[in-house]
Amino acid sequence: MSERRADPCTMVIFGASGDLTQRLLLPSLYNLLHAGLLPEDFAIVGVARADKDDAAFRDELKDSLGKFVKGATAEGQRWLSERMYYLRGEFDDAKTYQTLGAKLKEIERTHGTAGNALFYLAVPPNLFGPVVKALGQAGLAGEEHGWRRVVVEKPFGHDLSSAQALNREMLSVLSEEQIYRIDHYLGKETVQNIMVLRFANGLFAPLWNRDHIDHVQITVAETLGVESRGRFYEPTGALRDMVPNHLAQLLSLIAMEPPNCFDANDLRTEKAKALRAVHLTKEEVHSNVVRGQYTGGSAGGRQMPGYCESDGVARDSLTETYVAIKLRIENWRWAGVPFYLRTGKALAKRRSEVLIRFKRAPAALFQGVPTADLTPNDLVLHIQPEEGASLKVSAKRPGPSLKLRDVNMTFNYADYFEAAPNTGYETLLLDCMLGDATLFQRADNIEAGWSVVQPILDCWAEAGRVALPEYAAGSQGPEAADALLERDGRRWRSLEDNGKA
Ligand code: BG6
Repeated sequence: MSERRADPCTMVIFGASGDLTQRLLLPSLYNLLHAGLLPEDFAIVGVARADKDDAAFRDELKDSLGKFVKGATAEGQRWLSERMYYLRGEFDDAKTYQTLGAKLKEIERTHGTAGNALFYLAVPPNLFGPVVKALGQAGLAGEEHGWRRVVVEKPFGHDLSSAQALNREMLSVLSEEQIYRIDHYLGKETVQNIMVLRFANGLFAPLWNRDHIDHVQITVAETLGVESRGRFYEPTGALRDMVPNHLAQLLSLIAMEPPNCFDANDLRTEKAKALRAVHLTKEEVHSNVVRGQYTGGSAGGRQMPGYCESDGVARDSLTETYVAIKLRIENWRWAGVPFYLRTGKALAKRRSEVLIRFKRAPAALFQGVPTADLTPNDLVLHIQPEEGASLKVSAKRPGPSLKLRDVNMTFNYADYFEAAPNTGYETLLLDCMLGDATLFQRADNIEAGWSVVQPILDCWAEAGRVALPEYAAGSQGPEAADALLERDGRRWRSLEDNGKA
């Protein structure tokens, strides 16, 4: 997080009655205030349909801080409260935006926000386009007098062509520099650390290529099932929900070339380039992509109904809750190195990590040592819930004969750093207010993410309704996903592996 204080501004939250505002936005603003990073000249306007007034909106702040911020002070709450306003309105009504314009002018006078406004679209995705269009029509998107920025949540489109259409729609009102497309994975310290690990340590650069790396595994495993989100999840599924965004972020950070510098555009250009080198043809989808759906079982220490028995889910649903993909990256650095991606709900462990498996050392030197004992080096980047990295190396077991054993060199964030209270949105919000788009998706990044999965979507659409492999809640996923790696003589890193050799 930058140590710079944000510019004076008003943050306008469209959809201020929703869960995101309560759970993440208001707590993050409090944490930024607590860290001394919010400007004195600051205000929040909540816009939503619910019939409420300023006082009710301020009460919601109290609830939110009570639930989601440990030890929030009364003074901090009062500071934010004094700057909070509520505007009731329909998102498709031009009057809402006229009233908002007048409110912003009034706030500029009373709070000194200098005409700067950050519009946060915490609304259903079908409203992203209409709200932006209405902002434009009401003259609220122009930057003649202060900056105007728009933050958009995911899902950004539901396939490549809808994402392109949404980009076109937004770019007809705003410039690219005004749009901040959020992927909350980029708010995670451990995800940002991938860049630091790769580029601030001279050690890795010479090894980070097809000469030394055997393959890469990217895992985002959750123990939670679909919970109460059936209505959203049914038409979405694991592929759309996780791969073009979160897994594509991890993939591009691992695979990209070093940018010239950490400038937003240089970095995003390299990320988009890496994704554009991904090859997965429609023909390959049949053999290289596995989907699955969980049945009842026990995951994360609790009993869970099968996906099809969950609220808002069709009893004969064929929506995938798990997907595993083998990809090629056809460029000079990665040709011949498979990247295996997997993500799923209701799995044995909550665990996001990247495994970089290096090529095995030649065995010739160790005659007499069983080949199985000569294992390759693994670098594991632990994204969550463990946070850190570990490197598996071979060591000599003490004793007169030459016997080997794997040991781990491990770095845990918690051993070195005291974590500031963090929802994962603080850095992202502050960066928007500072105009730093490094951790946001440019139009081409979004489209490159969708391009990776589009052949899969096309292939599945053509296949129509086919029965999905099942896996029990609390397991490691469908057997077909194991077979995907076994075919190549490889195995997934177990979700149960605690990283201790
Ligand atoms: C969201 C998905 O984007 O990411 C959810 O819509 C998923 O389905 C969540 O559970 C995972 O985020 P995290 O930060 O818990 O890994």
